[in-house]
Amino acid sequence: MTTPTIELKPSANPLSAAEREGILANPGFGRHFTDHMVTIKWTEGRGWHDGQLVPYAPISLDPATTVLHYAQEIFEGLKAYRQPDGSVATFRPEKNAERFQRSARRLAMPELPVETFIEACDALVRQDKAWVPAHGGEESLYLRPFMIATEVGLGVKPANEYLFLVIASPAGAYFPGGVKPVSIWVSEDRVRAVPGGMGDAKTGGNYAASLLAQAEAATKGCDQVCYLDAVEHTWVEELGGMNLYFVYGDKIVTPSLTGSILEGVTRDSLLAVARDLGYEAEEGRVSVDQWQRDSENGSLTEVFACGTAAVITPVGTVKRAGAEWKQSGGEPGEVTLRLRQALLDIQRGTASDAHGWMHRL
Ligand code: COI
Repeated sequence: MTTPTIELKPSANPLSAAEREGILANPGFGRHFTDHMVTIKWTEGRGWHDGQLVPYAPISLDPATTVLHYAQEIFEGLKAYRQPDGSVATFRPEKNAERFQRSARRLAMPELPVETFIEACDALVRQDKAWVPAHGGEESLYLRPFMIATEVGLGVKPANEYLFLVIASPAGAYFPGGVKPVSIWVSEDRVRAVPGGMGDAKTGGNYAASLLAQAEAATKGCDQVCYLDAVEHTWVEELGGMNLYFVYGDKIVTPSLTGSILEGVTRDSLLAVARDLGYEAEEGRVSVDQWQRDSENGSLTEVFACGTAAVITPVGTVKRAGAEWKQSGGEPGEVTLRLRQALLDIQRGTASDAHGWMHRL
């Protein structure tokens, strides 16, 4: 595999410091973008080439570009955090790079070398370092690497040209309420992904597939939809864009990776963080009936969602057809908050990085 260098062509006209600070004061999620982006091309027979860091700008695509028709697209999400000494570090970028390669294989796209993925993210963060929010708050710089098929034509086949990009967006809490518990609608008919499908790939199609049930969740007064497995409509899989954890006293359980669940980096990190804190942490099967029963009998003490964007978000209310219940009295649970704090302390550089997860720039 070729590993292209990234040529720096910075903007002559970045946003003023005052405008940037105005945005950083209340960034929201995914609403503002930094001054630059990275682009790298792939062409059959030539491999990866023309790596560039350029001013953030619209890209122009022929209307017959294959991604617009057949959705050959994959993406990632990772964050850069301001450290106490003012430096910047990203969290486990190699995990995202490896998952990006797995997603590429599943969608018949070329695999970007792990070191190129990391270098592309590093180049953007180095250039737009001033956009990384101050140390200590909830904010960070969210990086969105993605790849699209750019061949022009309507034939259904793997494209012979691709474009990889990285853009960055200062991010506050994903949910407007921050750590306020979210409500979940359990969808017992619509499914997100099927066995043998692409549920474990991070591709836009999975998110498109989640939108209708997400809209239905909103009509039930819920913030998020929870999907069950596509065969038995019984086993809890994940939310529209986040993994789930169940807390049984001192034990946390997350649904096992079945092939139709996305292998979240936060999900994986929490298995280790929980064990470090003395909890039992395991992957297993949890049915929606068990979820309801164990909540009602009190053995299931807390439930939380996790993801790069959402960090750890407590679940407060759960609704399914004919039933509704509260998790930990509708308040953030103690274990949830402890795990959240422990993970954020590592990411913000205020706790020791025992697993070597932080990638310092
Ligand atoms: C993430 O947590 O990074 C996600 O990809 C979830 C969503 C914002 C798409």
